[in-house]
Amino acid sequence: MKTIKRRTFLKGSCAVAAGAVTWPRWLWAGDRPLIKKAIPASGEQLPVIGMGSSRTFDARDDAGARAQLAPVLQTFFDQGGALIDSSPMYGSAEQVLGDLLKTTTNKDRLFAATKVWTDGKQAGIEQMQQSMQRMGVKRFDLMQIHNLRDWQVHLETLKDWKEQGRIRYIGITTSHGRFHEELETALELEDFDFVQLSYNIADREVEKRLLPLAAERGTAVLVNRPYQKGELFRAVKGKALPDWSAECDCASWGQFFLKFIISHPAVTCVIPATTRVHHMLDNMGAGFGRLPDARMRARMLAYFNGA
Ligand SMILES: NC(=O)c1ccc[n+]([C@@H]2O[C@H](COP(=O)([O-])OP(=O)(O)OC[C@H]3O[C@@H](n4cnc5c(N)ncnc54)[C@H](OP(=O)(O)O)[C@@H]3O)[C@@H](O)[C@H]2O)c1
Repeated sequence: MKTIKRRTFLKGSCAVAAGAVTWPRWLWAGDRPLIKKAIPASGEQLPVIGMGSSRTFDARDDAGARAQLAPVLQTFFDQGGALIDSSPMYGSAEQVLGDLLKTTTNKDRLFAATKVWTDGKQAGIEQMQQSMQRMGVKRFDLMQIHNLRDWQVHLETLKDWKEQGRIRYIGITTSHGRFHEELETALELEDFDFVQLSYNIADREVEKRLLPLAAERGTAVLVNRPYQKGELFRAVKGKALPDWSAECDCASWGQFFLKFIISHPAVTCVIPATTRVHHMLDNMGAGFGRLPDARMRARMLAYFNGA
């Protein structure tokens, strides 16, 4: 059993999470510390806003697309980001990330996460070795089993690799409501350091069982699909951002959606994906300032649902 307990949820209507500062200054990181949460297995602090790479970084050899993505990646680090999530399932994303990281500066705090997504022990080993080469890392901070694929087999390899220092944390993933029962069983049976799942203001299924279970088991939670692949922005098109969301330093719908997620006590980090610098600035802005408390979260939910 893990011993380090998750930190207590912030108190107050909108809790100040990153020290006393003037608000809003969401377009500039400066010396403001990004809000961090502890990884329960180790106590290591992780910035709450990470970055996904599905579709967005699958630029292949397209020089124009790569030129557009380089400043997106640079902005992520300049704004205090650390965790980047990829997968061999995402086409050329690992390779594009690896290539762009070579010329990215300010990246010391990179927390490299990818996944194993194949069947069989040897195929898994070869795929993970290939991912290391593609992303240009000597070890992964986090290796996750993608969508529970052949998870019992890969888990044994991952335990060995962790023992050998080739990876630091072990995780398992799912998305949009698939495999929840099997995931629950896996989390109960094994000591995963991380679980990755879909959670957002319009899809709260995991609040029922998986988030409480992760908190109870001391499993860090990475949240994917925070914008439902962009659908959430279409859902609020023409709807004004409420004035009161400024009480939690939300300057945009993006920050409203991300702060709703990261203010859940069980959530460790959210990984929105983008191809645009101004969206990256917007997303990283959600990692600063006050977070909503339970009362504010209920208000956000009611407003989003049109109550
Ligand atoms: N099973 C799994 O393990 C699994 C499954 C799904 C996802 N994931 C991970 O989770 C990551 C995130 O999920 P996702 O990529 O499916 O979807 P998402 O992050 O919910 O949505 C991405 C979309 O939102 C748009 N966007 C991003 N920031 C925005 C902003 N501030 N304002 C307006 N639009 C914005 C992007 O368009 P622009 O490019 O125009 O910004 C993009 O179309 C993935 O990239 C992947 O790393 C893992």
